[in-house]
Amino acid sequence: MKVLILETAAEAAARTAGIISDCLAALDRPVLGLATGGTMEPVYTALVELHRNGKADFSNATTFNLDEYVGLSPNQRGSYSRFMQDALFSRVNLDPARCHLPRGNAEDPIAEAKRYEDAIAAAGGIDLQLLGIGRNGHIGFNEPISSLSGRTRVKTLTESTRRANARYFPSANAIPRYAITMGIGTILDARHCLLLATGGGKSAAVARMIEGPVAAYCPASALQMHPQATVVLDRDAAADLRLIHYYQEIHPGGREPKIP
Ligand code: GLP
Repeated sequence: MKVLILETAAEAAARTAGIISDCLAALDRPVLGLATGGTMEPVYTALVELHRNGKADFSNATTFNLDEYVGLSPNQRGSYSRFMQDALFSRVNLDPARCHLPRGNAEDPIAEAKRYEDAIAAAGGIDLQLLGIGRNGHIGFNEPISSLSGRTRVKTLTESTRRANARYFPSANAIPRYAITMGIGTILDARHCLLLATGGGKSAAVARMIEGPVAAYCPASALQMHPQATVVLDRDAAADLRLIHYYQEIHPGGREPKIP
């Protein structure tokens, strides 16, 4: 696992956007896995800026989002589809036909999850999977004790996750109880996993993910099993790491090391 620690949340988001634009530039037909949540908003803002400056070309890219709420239609307030439209899809040169999210309003959500998993495989798998982390260590909507080899499926959200996402909904009753999410096995199949966490509220989950045991109780800890996982943090999210000085020595300021 590569741990890059930046001073501020803005710098961490910019570093993350830079890694994504490098991937866009390096591959002929990049397949990006995308994430939602407040942490990702400055990343998408930075990507839009890079695009406007001619430094991020999405024309050949395909995207698959991690998850979507069950029961919400694509344009509905609170849906991840709408989040992505507003934050990125409508602001860069992505082909709408190649931007994928699970269909939250599918008649049969279980079948929809299977279809989504198959669509990722048919696209050749994911080159770079962007991830955030929940305070309880979830990735996508894989809540604690999710199978570490699970595939895309319907999951029941915890009360704490529903509360954390309440700000996107008009009332408490409107917050969905279920979501379709890529499984941890699906996520680990991506060729590169890139997780961004910012703010002190995430520091305990970050420490468990990086330095705790690999355990379904902290789903993000499964990234320890991935051969190419990069974690980008700001100083506050990194505050509980025991080996913080070691990570900073290897990647000063979150940069790549200069090996003599
Ligand atoms: C949701 C999403 C996750 C995201 C998490 C953290 O639960 N499904 O993918 O990582 O929220 O969101 P935030 O960045 O708002 O803290």
